[in-house]
Amino acid sequence: MTRTSLQFLRRGRNMRLDRFSPRTTLLDWLRLQERLIGTKEGCAEGDCGACTVVIVRERGSRLVYEPVNSCITLLGQLDGAELITVEDLADDGALHPVQEALVREHGSQCGFCTPGIVMSLFAHYHQCNGISNRKKINDALAGNLCRCTGYRPIVEAALEACNGGGDDRFSRNTVARRLAIGALDDKADLFVGDDTAFFAAPVSEQSLALLYAQHPDATIIAGATDVGLWITKKLAPIDKIIHVGRVAELSHIEATADGYAIGAAVSLARAAPVLGSIDPDIAEVLRRFGSIQVRACGTVGGNIANGSPIGDLAPMLIALGAGVELRYGEEIRRLPLENFFLDYGKQDRKPGEFVRRLLVPKLQPATYFRAYKITKRLDEDISAVLAAFCLKVDAGRISDARVAFGGMAGIPKRAKTVEENLRGLRLADADHWQSAAAAVSNDFTPLTDVRASAGYRGRVAGNLIVKALAEIAGVSPEVTRIAGRRMVADAAE
Ligand SMILES: Cc1cc2nc3c(=O)[nH]c(=O)nc-3n(C[C@H](O)[C@H](O)[C@H](O)COP(=O)(O)OP(=O)(O)OC[C@H]3O[C@@H](n4cnc5c(N)ncnc54)[C@H](O)[C@@H]3O)c2cc1C
Ligand code: FES
Ligand code: FES
Repeated sequence: MTRTSLQFLRRGRNMRLDRFSPRTTLLDWLRLQERLIGTKEGCAEGDCGACTVVIVRERGSRLVYEPVNSCITLLGQLDGAELITVEDLADDGALHPVQEALVREHGSQCGFCTPGIVMSLFAHYHQCNGISNRKKINDALAGNLCRCTGYRPIVEAALEACNGGGDDRFSRNTVARRLAIGALDDKADLFVGDDTAFFAAPVSEQSLALLYAQHPDATIIAGATDVGLWITKKLAPIDKIIHVGRVAELSHIEATADGYAIGAAVSLARAAPVLGSIDPDIAEVLRRFGSIQVRACGTVGGNIANGSPIGDLAPMLIALGAGVELRYGEEIRRLPLENFFLDYGKQDRKPGEFVRRLLVPKLQPATYFRAYKITKRLDEDISAVLAAFCLKVDAGRISDARVAFGGMAGIPKRAKTVEENLRGLRLADADHWQSAAAAVSNDFTPLTDVRASAGYRGRVAGNLIVKALAEIAGVSPEVTRIAGRRMVADAAE
């Protein structure tokens, strides 16, 4: 069954749109079409949060409120969800508790960034179950830039509103809203447009495979946190869009005998607790991946399929020995993730073939994992270098090593000479750590760009090898980590 109009819930009404350009962003639709100008445009690239709106979906048996950057979210991605904007919060003239608290605490001056901050806090108000703290609020606000007030009054307001909060007219209407959102889930493929220009959102993997094989020139989007920028910044003429976010099979996380099979369309927010359960460093890298808005939309599959040399997941998954599953028509194939990345901008994926799942193994006994994300600022920053280590230790000696880096070459890549140098090394032999680390210069010739110079990259990569060895040898992360944290200690330590 195919439906030819987009449908979503807004202010209790079922909205149906059967004509829109596939490239339309949610922000443009709100401001230019609906004339709802409370939602602002700052950067138009997902960085400042001025355009934050909240999307509500039913997951399991509950409603999940997620803040998203409407500037890089495409209108078609709303299918099946409820949209809440800053205009919707006040109830008959009475401000929402997060708005009231911001006023009381003087958390707003220019008012330009405030609507986005209100919406991020509104999502947090609903997600935190009435229990919040400074750490959680800092994470909730990492994607919202306030250029004037300073965050102290904003965080004070958030603490005041969110602790003990959660009872607003949205929560009082949960049952009716759940029914209305559930009724949108008609299991029909969405196709708006014609064969030359369309926004499609298939519901099954079979429909996706057929449609993409028919239109191999179409652009797949999952969260559109990359593709959205091609539209807003490069003005890319994308006419055919296939959204994979509704494909049931690509949205599953399955526990396997030795790890997890994670569907390509699983968002980073949903994948974080699962991947983070493999090692706390993965959880910490994901906590610092973009912002809460980016993680709500951005997906595991998008982070791999984009082939980015600075994507955060690839080096960690390569170090773990993960595989990737691809599908073209009826044909499914699997390959080690490290073989997927061929060259800068080139992956082992033919036209019409899509990423299906990532197969991520858990750590084997006596195996130690470490990952470090190096950025100019701690939160919401793209990595200059990401290093990931998976070392097997037998009787104090490294018996096997998988080491992968992002940001050091045109693709995420293993450091094979470093690995050779590590095999056989006694962990306690600290005098040899530096020489093992020096081998990294045989593996990579890094580039200089806006994030870091080649010299810095080479130096930091070597230092990270020493840091990993020191931590695995037993030096406390309290000593080795000035920024970031390792959330719990290894069971083996
Ligand atoms: C403000 C901001 C901060 C960011 N911070 C980080 C960060 O800290 N670390 C990081 O690694 N990245 C970061 N990113 C980049 C981006 O968010 C991630 O790469 C994200 O995982 C992309 O996923 P997506 O679903 O949004 O991809 P999309 O934009 O939907 O797609 C990306 C690419 O993958 C293709 N694609 C998507 N899914 C599939 C599929 N199933 N099969 C085949 N092709 C597919 C698309 O066609 C496109 O080429 C950031 C982006 C922004 C805007
Ligand atoms: S306008 Fe800056 S994040 Fe959207
Ligand atoms: S209130 Fe707008 S920059 Fe701070």
